[in-house]
Amino acid sequence: MKKFIIGNWKMHLNVHEASLFVAKLAQTVPTKRNVEVVICPSFIALQPLSLQINYRQMKLGAQDCYWRDSGAFTGEISATQLRGLAQYVLVGHSERRHVFDEDDREIRFKVQAVLRNGLVPVLCIGETATERSDGDVEHIIGDQLVSGLLNVGADQIDEVLIAYEPVWAISTSDKPILPEPQDIEAAVKIIRAQVAHMFGREAGKNIAVLYGGSVDKDNARTYLSVDGIDGALVGGKSLIAPEFAGIVEIASEIAKSEADKDE
Ligand code: 13P
Repeated sequence: MKKFIIGNWKMHLNVHEASLFVAKLAQTVPTKRNVEVVICPSFIALQPLSLQINYRQMKLGAQDCYWRDSGAFTGEISATQLRGLAQYVLVGHSERRHVFDEDDREIRFKVQAVLRNGLVPVLCIGETATERSDGDVEHIIGDQLVSGLLNVGADQIDEVLIAYEPVWAISTSDKPILPEPQDIEAAVKIIRAQVAHMFGREAGKNIAVLYGGSVDKDNARTYLSVDGIDGALVGGKSLIAPEFAGIVEIASEIAKSEADKDE
């Protein structure tokens, strides 16, 4: 199966810097048929980058969107407005949930809005350090999934990606901790079981699940080799071209060796 490597630039780079950085990525990121590479710049950079990137090499994603298609919503950007500029939209990123207090209802509406507009939602879920130490992982990520996917149709689930990002593993969190591969494997099992419960066994098996949190080119092999993981959502290291390119290369090698095994 194809791997996904998604770079989340967060609130970094102005339009000019974004364009220069994409020119650098164009020279460093390998184009691989078995890896879908997506970069998520700030909204303001989407339009110029949509004219600059080579779509065979990478696609564009937005970091968020509003859930109404248009109207009197000052300062917001809708999924309708993103059509033609982005192919993917991150929804429910932990920084949206925890810094901007986005709730499950809003996140659910956003997932629907993204699908309604023909784009791919990347539903981000993950527990905080406290929720983990309280033994609530299964409950928290189960609830985030049920709520986020509640109004998704059985015919739409194939278009959704899930990104598991434990908040405590994100490089900019208070004291980031690198998760053990078995922590991720356990979370992926919960995610696939929940999706299977909601949408059937095939959906649980087929849905793409990405890992995010302090991924770099040195640990990418470990994390991308976790059973059931189909890619990575990369923050800090997506702004360093050789790191990001290295992660794409590793993803391609792993996709190839999995395909060889299946033959
Ligand atoms: P880091 O890769 O910097 O830990 O960020 C992860 C993340 O939040 C990506 O969305």
